[in-house]
Amino acid sequence: MALALDGGHPVRRHDFPAWPYHDDTERAALIRAVDQGQWWRVGGSEVTSFEAEFGEYHGGTALAVTNGTHALELGLELLGLRPGDEVIVPAFTFISTSIAVQRAGGVPVPVDVDPVTYCLDPATLDAVRTPRTRVVIPVHMAGHVADMDAIGAWAARHDVVVFQDAAHAHGAVWSGRRIGDFGTLAAFSFQNGKLMTAGEGGALLLPSAERFDEAFARHSCGRPMGDTTYEHRTPSSNYRMTEFAGAVLRAQLGRLAEQNARRESRWKTLSAALREIPGVVPQGRDPRCDLNPHYMAMAPSTPPRTPGPTATWW
Ligand SMILES: Cc1ncc(COP(=O)(O)O)c(C=O)c1O
Repeated sequence: MALALDGGHPVRRHDFPAWPYHDDTERAALIRAVDQGQWWRVGGSEVTSFEAEFGEYHGGTALAVTNGTHALELGLELLGLRPGDEVIVPAFTFISTSIAVQRAGGVPVPVDVDPVTYCLDPATLDAVRTPRTRVVIPVHMAGHVADMDAIGAWAARHDVVVFQDAAHAHGAVWSGRRIGDFGTLAAFSFQNGKLMTAGEGGALLLPSAERFDEAFARHSCGRPMGDTTYEHRTPSSNYRMTEFAGAVLRAQLGRLAEQNARRESRWKTLSAALREIPGVVPQGRDPRCDLNPHYMAMAPSTPPRTPGPTATWW
């Protein structure tokens, strides 16, 4: 069959749906935020409500921030990264995984990804470990959860901290566990193309409420929640999310489960069709990845590869 590009008939007859998807829920949310009369989180309730809802959905305690890059930077700050500390990152990711490490004073150490899932390959970790290795950041590439079993076990053996880059993985599940169930920090992005969006935005998911107050102060010029006396307790910056973004994200979260289920059910068809194109190899799947929300249909044109002994195509 000739591709449309080569003069064949286009398979798709309708335009792709516009993104970000939105309807009256987002409109009502924005009006609610406007009418609230308090447009920053300190006076309003939208961001706080969004944090509660997002945290409950993912099994952790959420702190909303300005974007995913800042969520990574703030997380590394919370982990106490020191200048010269080494942080292992996948070589294949968006640049923020690496530049956040540099902004926090660390040294990003890239490693290869698994050729089927495109997530950090745990088999590479031993080769790059040094006495300065402090953190490893698996990226859940395009929604496929990295091998958290092997990465978690390796990190525990070597006293290295795991910090998930979940910028693509809203609602993802691995062996029955949600992103918050792994007991590590995780960074999410709500940038315009992401699975949930307010144009910009991010969240740092903490495994429990234990360090929420510290994280809050660090994202709010060092001020504790409710501060009215300019008490600047910690080194920090301003990463506060606006009430408009919080309101929109509450609407977006309300649609996530249904959208994820729909993308999962359609991935089999899309993946099979992509595999018919010579040289195009779609992302495969580790069977432990129970829910891949499919942020992207990754199908680079590379030499054909087949899933390993346990991985499948979907
Ligand atoms: C893997 C990954 N990490 C981090 C980020 C940074 O998120 P943001 O664009 O919200 O700063 C992105 C954004 O595209 C991403 O794809």
